[in-house]
Amino acid sequence: RARAVDALTRLVRDIPDFPEPGIVFKDITPLLADPAGFGAVVEALAEAGRDEDGQVVVDKVVGMEARGFILAAPVALALGVGFAPVRKAGKLPHLTHRVDYALEYGEAVLELHRDAVAAGDRVLLVDDVLATGGTAGATCDLVRRCGAEPVGFAVLMELGFLDGRAAVGDVPVTSLLTV
Ligand code: PRP
Ligand code: MG
Repeated sequence: RARAVDALTRLVRDIPDFPEPGIVFKDITPLLADPAGFGAVVEALAEAGRDEDGQVVVDKVVGMEARGFILAAPVALALGVGFAPVRKAGKLPHLTHRVDYALEYGEAVLELHRDAVAAGDRVLLVDDVLATGGTAGATCDLVRRCGAEPVGFAVLMELGFLDGRAAVGDVPVTSLLTV
């Protein structure tokens, strides 16, 4: 965990005014390019899927398109469980659940295959950043629509000036860094 926080501090760069004026974009590509740092953050995120004894306590990892995929897939492998993608509208080919969620301006749709998680599954959500919580809250809804239970949400960074945690209710949030 300490190595993960160190890697995040060193290897995530701020890009001012991207994608719009006034927004500071957290660019994780230098972190992804560093195998030691990438490995450390994947292992730290995977801890959210284990109990104090190191036993895996989740059945599935769900990642949110697009940046969440990069982190959630190796976390699923580290835990030895399957991965399921939450995608933006119209990308998944089979029967889906759909949820509308609010963006800063307007709204968008996320989808999850109805058979991607099973009823009763314990699901860990993984993404790069928790901002307003819109993405995470919609993903919790999708998991519940499948009859499964979101039992944790693990992110590299949360934006401390927004109350993103409120959007996931009582699902425990593991955030490696508050920025
Ligand atoms: C970003 C980020 C999170 C989300 C956080 O994704 O990767 O998924 O915003 O914001 P929120 O808490 O306010 O929902 P975005 O949809 O911008 O695009 P990407 O992951 O496809 O790059
Ligand atoms: Mg995203």
